[in-house]
Formats: sequence, C-alpha cells, structure tokens
Amino acid sequence: MIFRPAVGRSTSSGAKGSSMIVVSAAGGALGRLVLDGLRRTRPEERIVAAVRHPAKAADLAARGIEIRHGDYDDPASLRSAFAGAERLLLISSPEIDPARRIAQHGAAVEAARAAGVGTLVYTSFLGADTRSTGVPAAHFATERLIEDSGLPCTFLRNPFYSEAFLNPSLLDAVASGELPDGTAGRGLNTAFRTDLAEAAVRVLTSAEPANRAYDLTGPLWTHPELAASLSHASGTPVKAVPRSAPAPAAFAFLESLAASGALELQTSDLAALLPHPPRTAGSYAASLFPPL
Ligand SMILES: NC(=O)c1ccc[n+]([C@@H]2O[C@H](COP(=O)([O-])OP(=O)(O)OC[C@H]3O[C@@H](n4cnc5c(N)ncnc54)[C@H](OP(=O)(O)O)[C@@H]3O)[C@@H](O)[C@H]2O)c1
Repeated sequence: MIFRPAVGRSTSSGAKGSSMIVVSAAGGALGRLVLDGLRRTRPEERIVAAVRHPAKAADLAARGIEIRHGDYDDPASLRSAFAGAERLLLISSPEIDPARRIAQHGAAVEAARAAGVGTLVYTSFLGADTRSTGVPAAHFATERLIEDSGLPCTFLRNPFYSEAFLNPSLLDAVASGELPDGTAGRGLNTAFRTDLAEAAVRVLTSAEPANRAYDLTGPLWTHPELAASLSHASGTPVKAVPRSAPAPAAFAFLESLAASGALELQTSDLAALLPHPPRTAGSYAASLFPPL
C-alpha cells in the first residue's frame, strides 16, 4: 500500500451515517454499484447521485436517492451538485480525449474546492502516481490537480475491469473447446467492478484519515488457468490457444499490454479493503455453470 505525503489539511472525519456522500458520474456501471453499497450504510437522503442526465436516473430517484445535475462539461452544475458533501467520490470521466478528460476532471476538482467538500475520493488508475503517458496519463494529471487543490484526498487506483475478459462470451470458448489467448499466457491483475465498488464504499464510509492511495489489483490469473477452470466447471475440455485472428482494436490493445507483462503487478490493497477475498477468474468461470 502506498501512503502519499499529506497534502492539504488533514482530516480524520469519518463519513458517519448522517454525513452526506456525493457520487459523480453516478449513473454508470461503477457508480450504480457504489450507490447500492452506500444504501446499506446510511439513509438514502444522505446519498446524492450527481449525473449528467437526471432524466436517466429516474430509477435511482425512485429508490429515494437525491439526484443532482452534475456535468463535467458544466462547472456551475458541479458546484451545486457537490454542495454539502462530507465526501465526494469523483468517478473518472469516460471521455477518450486526454486533454478534454483532464479539463473535465479539473472542473470537478475546482468545483469540489469551491463547494467545500470534506474529502475527495478519486477513481484513478494503476500507475498514475508515476506514469504521465499512456493509459494513466489523464489520471496522472488529475492526481496532481487534486493534490494542488489542497483538498484532503484519497486515490483509488483501479486496474482494468475483469468484465472486459470475463463475461458470457466465454461460453463460446466452451462450445469450441478453444479459448483464444493474445496475452502469451501472461498474468492479468484485473478486478471485478463489484469488488472495486465495494472497496470505494469502504473508503467513503471509513473513519480512516484521507491523504492516501490504494493500488488495487485483483488476484492474478492467466488464460491457461481460465481454460482449466472452464473445463472443470463445464465438464468439457477447453484449452487456451494463441489467437489466430486479430481481436477487435480496443481488446487487442489490452491483450498486448498483458502480453508485455504490464498487468502482473500484485498488491494487497484490494484484499485489505474488502471483508472477503477479491473475486477470482475461476469463481467467475464456475458461475457460468450453476449446479442444476
Ligand atoms: N478500469 C477499467 O477497466 C475502466 C474501463 C472503462 C472505463 N473506466 C473508467 O471508469 C469510469 C467508471 O466506469 P463505469 O464502468 O461506471 O463506466 P460507464 O458505465 O461507462 O459510466 C460512465 C458514466 O460517466 C457519465 N458521464 C459521461 N460524460 C459525463 C460528463 N460530461 N459529466 C458527468 N458524467 C458523465 C456517463 O453518463 P451518461 O449515462 O449520461 O453517458 C456514465 O454514467 C469510466 O467513466 C472511465 O473513466 C475504467
């Protein structure tokens, strides 16, 4: 676990059940899982979902969660959305263009400062403390903006989501008996959104001081191990085979990163935050074949 030097004023204020927690980009997959987790810790009226399109969050409002308009491209909306937050979970924007994404995050950080947010928790990316290029580039810049803001902060450096690899398309591999592998059998430290969201909830509701970073990694898995798990779960032989045809571009990029060994970092941070071991690739494979 990496402890960052203290920046800004220190705080030990836990987000008690009565304090308000705001989640931005809350209508996305990760945000919704975080909201579900927060609802188990405090009354709905102390949870705010800041979303770009409030009309798309009617289901959340129906569950009693306060919906506020918070658009990363509209700084005024962000100041209103973050008002009164003891803790803010700033979920990174899905914007592809790094310059635009950094500007969006900068607007959110400035709005958090102006709104007097108590602690800013940011969903960063593994390597964003040291790498200012490549995938972590916008996260590297955002971490620096947050540090410069003087706000008490916590960085959740997420790995790639497991769901990119571990999803129902694995049933095709079982049907054919072959699991295409473009990673040269190297390890992947992906984690499931459910675990990353639960870790975020633990941090948001913790009494621990801010000003720290978590490098979150899931249990390392490989395609040959996954093929073995699929074989065991399905009762059908499945083997990992080198990919014969190119994968779609975004996926090929992920595979090439894995093949270079870039996704093999392991830390204990995620396991330490969760009350249970992080979910494994093997357990996902088993879940595809529930007992009759
Ligand atoms: N670790 C990984 O493997 C990985 C993979 C993909 C993404 N990410 C990052 O993790 C974040 C959360 O993941 P996720 O699965 O929850 O993504 P997601 O399901 O795509 O959700 C992204 C959310 O961002 C919202 N958004 C888009 N533009 C916005 C803006 N200008 N202002 C405010 N909100 C805006 C979207 O709102 P609308 O519904 O209105 O579009 C959506 O609710 C992503 O945004 C991205 O930065 C990580």
